[in-house]
Amino acid sequence: MKKATTIEQVREAIGKAREKLRQASQQGGSNLIGFVPTMGALHAGHFSLIDTARRECGFVVVSIFVNPTQFGPNEDYERYPRPLEQDLAGCESHGVDLVFVPTVEQMYPAGFSTTVRVSGVTEMMEGQFRPGHFDGVCTVVAKLFSIVGADVAYFGAKDYQQAVVIKRMVADLNLPIRIVVCPTIREKDGLAISSRNTYLDKHERAQAASLYGSLQLAEELIHNGQRNAKEIIRAVRRHLAEHAPLGKIDYVAVVDPESLQPIDEIKDDVVIALAVRFPSARLIDNIRVDVKS
Ligand code: PAF
Repeated sequence: MKKATTIEQVREAIGKAREKLRQASQQGGSNLIGFVPTMGALHAGHFSLIDTARRECGFVVVSIFVNPTQFGPNEDYERYPRPLEQDLAGCESHGVDLVFVPTVEQMYPAGFSTTVRVSGVTEMMEGQFRPGHFDGVCTVVAKLFSIVGADVAYFGAKDYQQAVVIKRMVADLNLPIRIVVCPTIREKDGLAISSRNTYLDKHERAQAASLYGSLQLAEELIHNGQRNAKEIIRAVRRHLAEHAPLGKIDYVAVVDPESLQPIDEIKDDVVIALAVRFPSARLIDNIRVDVKS
């Protein structure tokens, strides 16, 4: 595994990889470069993305960069975990070929003045509670895509809105990359695995499992015939109030899976998404429900 800290080193390594992949593909191997952008603190969710990339691609790149521009002024940028040595060992053991670990100065040198802003799908849910967050995500992801020049990029479904926003950006800017969204990985009790779970104290952690519990309740209600989104939202909120009293609900939304517009009457697939703020960490989760199944 190679570690690059500068953009030049990445470009050089990718150039060599392309050459090798051309030769390997003549023997029937994949000539694809797969990319998993991360902020480090790698966990089972990231490793499932890396493993999928490893299965589908001939060369796998992971970036580790805690992107300052996607954190709000009162968010956790400073205290975000940065266990770099552990992350590098994890990448190595999952067969990553190249890890890109840039500095803030590499990514945002003096005079940096460009923002990539997607409208529409950024305006609700996370966009409403984290103003500017998706501008930071889109700008850094567009830069990383341009630096790495991969064929396929892998994102987790836990950040459902992020994946929709990135797909919109890629389509709108005709970026030559395919976006693959992989399933959310959960703890045994259903809690979606996230780097921020480590902030939770034991009382919050015990209650955090009810986020998924409330989504499962919503799914059950839909499968039992409930089609009124307001009723679903009410039931989810009631469940959270009872089982996660330490958390404050930012939102519970029933939305169209592509446009992310709120749905009143459920006729087709929907995504139910929520965010809950515990004293130590803000958690998000979602579930996609197929009405016909
Ligand atoms: O999902 C994340 O970890 C980040 O938002 C990403 C995509 C790596 C951009 O900084």
